[in-house]
Amino acid sequence: MERVNRVALVGTGAVGSSYAFALLNQGVADELVMIDLNKDKSEGDAMDLNHGLAFAPANKKIWFGDYEDCRLADIVVITAGANQKPGETRLDLLEKNTSIFKNIVDSVMASGFDGIFVVATNPVDILTYMTWKFSGLPVHRVIGSGTILDTARLRFQLSEYFQVDTRNIHAYIMGEHGDSELPVWSHANVGGRSVFDRIQDYPDKYDLQDLDHIFEQVRDAAYHIIERKGATHYGIAMGLVRLTKAILHNENAVFTISGYVDGAYGVEDLYIGVPAIVNRHGITEIIQLNLNEEEQAKFKKSASLLKETMKPVVEKYMNKEGHPSQK
Ligand SMILES: NC(=O)c1ccc[n+]([C@@H]2O[C@H](COP(=O)([O-])OP(=O)(O)OC[C@H]3O[C@@H](n4cnc5c(N)ncnc54)[C@H](O)[C@@H]3O)[C@@H](O)[C@H]2O)c1
Repeated sequence: MERVNRVALVGTGAVGSSYAFALLNQGVADELVMIDLNKDKSEGDAMDLNHGLAFAPANKKIWFGDYEDCRLADIVVITAGANQKPGETRLDLLEKNTSIFKNIVDSVMASGFDGIFVVATNPVDILTYMTWKFSGLPVHRVIGSGTILDTARLRFQLSEYFQVDTRNIHAYIMGEHGDSELPVWSHANVGGRSVFDRIQDYPDKYDLQDLDHIFEQVRDAAYHIIERKGATHYGIAMGLVRLTKAILHNENAVFTISGYVDGAYGVEDLYIGVPAIVNRHGITEIIQLNLNEEEQAKFKKSASLLKETMKPVVEKYMNKEGHPSQK
């Protein structure tokens, strides 16, 4: 039988359907199966997307399906989950989404799936960890979107500031995908020249202190967008497509994703935003940057915060040996 690339998408809400649309427009993957609790939405999306095939760069089989269809999938992308309701804490949301993930991941694995998970649902670092645990797959085959979007936002902000194409800006956001994330200024450069040098080159135009404001814009971007339109979905959807392409095309591309860190950066047993090399096998390497003292301290703080936040769900769902305790 001819080998085709199949992506299974679980969750066709704002993020999931934007991902499907971007996948189709960029001609990535041969097959896309869409799964959601809300069957009407998922089925309607599949019908709608199929009507775009006549205008797409490549043919694709798109259908509304079920977990059984994950068996032959190369990648299962999860963007399903509950959103934070008024009065609900982040921990309430975490517990709710962990329980949803337990069902989803068990159902995917029951199909005989043996590919790569890509997780985008929030809190993404913790849910990626839980996906790894629930699935029993090797760590390198479970990837979270991590700070892929935050890094893209930083590159955009720096591009606006320095008036240089986003694609020629190299800068990372690392840590939790959330309030404790950090910019890695020590490794940020514009076309190869460090941001610090570039600022010094043009003292009349740029100011070191502007970097603080740029980072705040990045860190708080989701709040600003949600305030205006209720959700953020295009940016993350394009990031997920980029990641999908890097996996399917065996690219060895570098992204700040949520990868499993156990020793690197002085952090143990955690999924967190780090630069990593991604190819057809999943994550092949966590890149260990020489962070400066301040960055290293911020990264460790972000890691501790994540550890603390995930403790209640780890205790609830794992036994002492670190295996899932509930069926
Ligand atoms: N990682 C990132 O950078 C990033 C960026 C934006 C949004 N997100 C996250 O992505 C997630 C989805 O956001 P959204 O705006 O698309 O939400 P949404 O409410 O529009 O969509 C969620 C979808 O999940 C489905 N769903 C819920 N429970 C399910 C289950 N048990 N099985 C199958 N499907 C189920 C719902 O029916 C819905 O269609 C959220 O957690 C959000 O915080 C992450």
